[in-house]
Amino acid sequence: MSQTQTEPEIRKGLVGVVADTTAISKVNPETNSLLYRGYPVQELAARCTFEEVAYLLWHGELPTPAELAALEDAGRGQRALAREVRAAVDLVPTTAHPMDVLRTAVSVIGATDPAVDDASREGNLAKSVRLLAQIPAVVAYDQRRRRGQDLVEARPDLGYVENFLHMTFGEVPDPVVVDAFRVSLILYAEHSFNASTFTARVITSTLSDLYSAVVGAIGALKGPLHGGANEAVMHVFDEIGTAEDAEAWLDTALAEKRRIMGFGHRVYKHGDSRVPTMKAALDTLVAHYDRPDLAALYDNLERAMVARKNIQPNLDYPSGPAYHLMGFDTATFTPLFVAARNTGWTAHIMEQLAANSLIRPLSAYSGPAERHLPQR
Ligand code: ACO
Repeated sequence: MSQTQTEPEIRKGLVGVVADTTAISKVNPETNSLLYRGYPVQELAARCTFEEVAYLLWHGELPTPAELAALEDAGRGQRALAREVRAAVDLVPTTAHPMDVLRTAVSVIGATDPAVDDASREGNLAKSVRLLAQIPAVVAYDQRRRRGQDLVEARPDLGYVENFLHMTFGEVPDPVVVDAFRVSLILYAEHSFNASTFTARVITSTLSDLYSAVVGAIGALKGPLHGGANEAVMHVFDEIGTAEDAEAWLDTALAEKRRIMGFGHRVYKHGDSRVPTMKAALDTLVAHYDRPDLAALYDNLERAMVARKNIQPNLDYPSGPAYHLMGFDTATFTPLFVAARNTGWTAHIMEQLAANSLIRPLSAYSGPAERHLPQR
């Protein structure tokens, strides 16, 4: 007698699956729009500081001047690299990828926090501010030690973005550069249930601590299909060489069935809402550093990719060359993404905890039928 069984519907990659609600951001692929707590990201990028956006993501509203000053003060006092964290960074060889260094450092930041398991909202807000302040110190120090340069002490008199650049380069660059960096951090800050944010929510759903969730999220972001793409874009540019070679390079790469880094998106199919704002920031950098050659390569590759595949660039496409022009090492690009996205991750961690349910999907077994060990 044959039995009819209903096959479970499997959505590989969870494509199209709505896993939960969130009040933090709304991605609308139909209108190519992205809202943080209701505000279009373009408006935030035009008018807000990065700390204002962090506050908005965590609290749901923009800060009053007093609330912003309190956040800035709290962060300013924690900008110096803690002794244990510096020691941990020094232990990791410079042959390791900066994302591995950052993942290790965040783990140590967590392990040395006596309040690591305080899961109250206040406790998690304090940890979020700590990470906001500490991650730039790790990223900046790691890039410097790779270049054989000494650590640069934090400057409490500087704003968040200026201090980040000061700790990396030993000076505050031109306001054009500072502003482009601020814009990139705001655009990278949050993007609903992307792979790294979902990772953070899965870890949080077990009632693990905030640092563990961020460490897991860093691991997810490292991959080239996600945050690692901004670094990969720069490798592609290096491989192509000049603007004139872009089309031929693309034809060969597509014939070899290669993924073209910085193009395509799981949610946006007609263009990434953040690209025009980041492209405008890149254009100011191209003008500032007088690099029309880089702009031409960018345009030629994009034009050819859209013509061949009708696949649009994502945020990593303009941000990769922008970070290159700012002077960051290519391997530092994804840690910069962490410095920004950490704000979104921590907002999601707090949201997950506020209405938690263990995240535990089912699987459809596809292995051998039940069998038994042979008699011995
Ligand atoms: N280069 C070449 N072909 C691509 C690309 C690309 N960048 N992106 C999608 N495609 C093609 C696929 O080969 C596939 O073609 P097929 O149907 O003929 O096999 C089709 O488009 C659909 O691709 P999927 O992988 O199924 O689409 P998915 O939604 O899963 O992919 C992803 C999204 C992973 C981002 C993909 O576009 C990609 O690999 N891009 C390159 C990596 C990248 O830039 N990542 C950054 C993401 S955004 C961010 O993190 C800020």
